Amino acid sequence: MDGKCAIVTGAARGIGLATADLFREAGWRVAMVDRDSAELARAEASRGDALALARDVSNPQDVDAIMRETAAWAGRIDALVNNAGVAEFGPIEDCDFEMWRRVMATNLDGVFLCTQAATPYLKETAGAVVNIASISGLRASTLRVAYGTSKAAVIHLTRQQAAELGEYGIRCNAVCPGPVRTKLAMAVHTQEIIDAYHDAIPLNRYGSEREIAEVICFLCSDKASYVTGQVIAADGGFESTGVGLPALRR
Ligand SMILES: NC(=O)c1ccc[n+]([C@@H]2O[C@H](COP(=O)([O-])OP(=O)(O)OC[C@H]3O[C@@H](n4cnc5c(N)ncnc54)[C@H](O)[C@@H]3O)[C@@H](O)[C@H]2O)c1
Repeated sequence: MDGKCAIVTGAARGIGLATADLFREAGWRVAMVDRDSAELARAEASRGDALALARDVSNPQDVDAIMRETAAWAGRIDALVNNAGVAEFGPIEDCDFEMWRRVMATNLDGVFLCTQAATPYLKETAGAVVNIASISGLRASTLRVAYGTSKAAVIHLTRQQAAELGEYGIRCNAVCPGPVRTKLAMAVHTQEIIDAYHDAIPLNRYGSEREIAEVICFLCSDKASYVTGQVIAADGGFESTGVGLPALRR
């Protein structure tokens, strides 16, 4: 088969769904992976050209099946977008080991497992990996001991992957979104938090799913053929601000 093929994890909604749609618009074949089978079925209903795989990225057997079934369907794997993620926020003293493991299992183990299992296929195509980290992996904050640490680890894992897989022509980059109004974010963002983000972000607003997807798809495309090992914040300038004290503004 001729068409390039991307796997997008966590594709039933939010940033993953927008990324799957952008790939489809560009003529790619897309395997949409999500463990929420009901939400995935809803997304698939209007996307008959995509392959829907109801799988869990933190389960090694599921991950092997994702790669096998996608390769059988498309004949190739050109890009892997490790987007599936969970956010559970709380003070350090309230983060029990089960919560820590739930966050790490999807956000970190999932990225490791999927990339490892995709590597033989990506070697064939000199393909690309994009890991979705977060602004919370670049800047520490309260309540994010598990989430922020998982995302910081994903940033370093990306560099490990780029260093080792570059000799096969496989490029690995990370995208760090700032706040986007998805189900994941809205479960933990109150109106007060939304207003505070608007105030702290130079562009004074949240990003859209589509704006994040554009960066992801660029990094998977041939236009980024000499870009690997990079961490790109799509965050309205949030990460670039150092001493952003409101009192220092005019
Ligand atoms: N929305 C934001 O503000 C924001 C900011 C920074 C980073 N991110 C990151 O972007 C990514 C996408 O987030 P979103 O906001 O679109 O969230 P979302 O909750 O809307 O979508 C995430 C999807 O991943 C799926 N998923 C979760 N665990 C999974 C697993 N183990 N296996 C398979 N699927 C699984 C969920 O079912 C869901 O459909 C996440 O990695 C998140 O951490 C989001």
